Amino acid sequence: MAATVPELCLPGIVRTAIQCRAEVVEHELMARNTWRMRLYCPEVARQILPGQFFMIRMPDRSDPLLGRPFALYDVYCDAAGEPQGIDFGYVVVGKMTSLFEQLKSGNTVEVWGPLGNGFPLPPSGHLVIAAGGIGQTPFLAVIREALRRRSYGVPPRSLAQAPSRITLCYGVRSKEYLAGVKEFESEGIDVRIATDDGSVGHHGFVTDLLKQLLAESTPPAAVYCCGPEPMMHAVSKLTAAAKTPCWLSLETPMACGFGACFSCVTKVRQEDGTWDYKRVCVEGPVFPAEQLVLD
Ligand code: FES
Repeated sequence: MAATVPELCLPGIVRTAIQCRAEVVEHELMARNTWRMRLYCPEVARQILPGQFFMIRMPDRSDPLLGRPFALYDVYCDAAGEPQGIDFGYVVVGKMTSLFEQLKSGNTVEVWGPLGNGFPLPPSGHLVIAAGGIGQTPFLAVIREALRRRSYGVPPRSLAQAPSRITLCYGVRSKEYLAGVKEFESEGIDVRIATDDGSVGHHGFVTDLLKQLLAESTPPAAVYCCGPEPMMHAVSKLTAAAKTPCWLSLETPMACGFGACFSCVTKVRQEDGTWDYKRVCVEGPVFPAEQLVLD
């Protein structure tokens, strides 16, 4: 049973979000402490765009009271291609995700979304994606849309020309934390791995891989990035120095997810050179890197 949530809306708040109870359809371990959950919620699946997110909470309990934000991994469809639900990834850290870990097919959770703005459609040149840890989750849908294998949203948005090349630079602590690599590779893109401990791929940071790509004779047309804050700061500096357009998807903690509580604000540059606070849940979570004031 789905319902829109206009009674919660204040000026500037997203009005198209759906609130519903969603059944768990699949739940699998992707990597150490890292799960993929599939929820049946066609109303959300039909509307959501790559890079948007949704809030999830456990039903019929007050602890934890607030929902938590999760990025879309991808939409799943039936045999006729009709969106049926959403996949998302999470790492077990704290009470909510420890409860998630116990969920089985047939259990339900409360979902409201889609929320936030999502990634823009990519330009036609080389798209580089820099992902750190669970920050890889927004990018499967981004890549499938960029390759014109899937379309998302109502009406479905479409890309006139696919990027000439897509490279995913994916960094994790150690190889047991790599999640979804086969799914990314099966899209036929160039997947480059970095691990802090050198257990697989490049021994070092994902930003080392990005530096190599930024130094090529034809630099990337755009960089999309999601991951831990220090990594995103480093990516922002590198792309600014290379004058390469970059979009960051912020992983800011959120309380309401729909613009009411202002717990998620970040400093964003204004056209007159000053800065103002913007809500990551409404004006983001994706921002052009050059607009962000990163402390
Ligand atoms: Fe409440 Fe963003 S989480 S305003």
